[in-house]
Amino acid sequence: MSSFKTGGDMSFQSVAEKSPPEWSSRLKIDYLADSNIPTVEDSGADVVQGLSRSPKTLPPKYFYDDRGSQLFEQICDLPEYYLTRTETAILQQYAGAIAQQTGACELVELGSGSSTKTRLLLEAYQAQNYPLCYRPIDVSAGILESSAQSLLQTYSQLKIHALVGTYDQALQTLSGAYLPQRMVCFLGSSLGNLSPEECDRFFEQVRLALRSGGYFLLGVDLHKSTAQLEAAYDDSQGVTAAFNLNLLHHLNRRFDGNFDVSQFEHFAFYNTELHQIEMHLRSLKSQTIHLRTLNLTIEMAAGETIRSEISRKFDLATLQPQLHSKGLRPFKIWMDANAWFGLLLCRCEA
Ligand code: AVI
Repeated sequence: MSSFKTGGDMSFQSVAEKSPPEWSSRLKIDYLADSNIPTVEDSGADVVQGLSRSPKTLPPKYFYDDRGSQLFEQICDLPEYYLTRTETAILQQYAGAIAQQTGACELVELGSGSSTKTRLLLEAYQAQNYPLCYRPIDVSAGILESSAQSLLQTYSQLKIHALVGTYDQALQTLSGAYLPQRMVCFLGSSLGNLSPEECDRFFEQVRLALRSGGYFLLGVDLHKSTAQLEAAYDDSQGVTAAFNLNLLHHLNRRFDGNFDVSQFEHFAFYNTELHQIEMHLRSLKSQTIHLRTLNLTIEMAAGETIRSEISRKFDLATLQPQLHSKGLRPFKIWMDANAWFGLLLCRCEA
């Protein structure tokens, strides 16, 4: 993980613990990469694998060092990036209905970032006088800690148990629920960043993290015009370009690399066959790159690209049966008036 700071009112739990720990303060933070279990991302095996194949790819989780997380927050406010404000508007309208449907439950949020949208859910649960328990999960320690501190100031009854780690790590490590029911939230269409195979595995992990009767709240970006999509991923202020290029800075720092970032450019297009935005880093010249701690040397031709992200766009008619087949039955679906974005509330079935 990018930084391992400690702060004021925190206590730390063993990540091996599977039953809910006792609260000794309102904020607990576990750093999953600190555990004794070596993970793929600690070793960089996924970077070696992606850069050794043709065409070259990188796992998008490396976007999210502290700088990358800040840039992503800026992306969310861009005029072209309709996703965040559209999903926020849906949540503003329906958070009360969600709370009424689920009853009291702890909120587990995968890829919580600044937790801005979560506030709408917390408000709705608070309005019902439900106990507030929030379990944010993010790979960026910095943003997780600062947003947790800010939430604690706003909600005096809130308890937070945060996990710094990937979705994979977190879903496998989640201890028992603090409240009788749990809702796993996966907002912002982060599902789109998973390949269809990863998506299937992810649904299975969510299913395992929920008991029968638990809930899964999923926000997804829907099919729309190529022009609108390409503008959202290649904005006029160049923030998305900076976000994409920052990935190379992150790899340099993390794996003692020598990517010359000025010799790459951001490139994004909509693949209409696969219904996915593809973000690439295009090499502006022929170059050799070393990542010393990975013992990796790669050659790049001028014009060759590294695919750094896919962002799949969904249609509800396909997604609903897919979820259902994994034991996650969508029973409420909300959309904005333009049908740009969908919010699905699923119930976990045994
Ligand atoms: C986090 N994820 C859902 C974003 C997306 O839209 O796929 C990441 C992003 N990449 C470029 N802009 C935003």
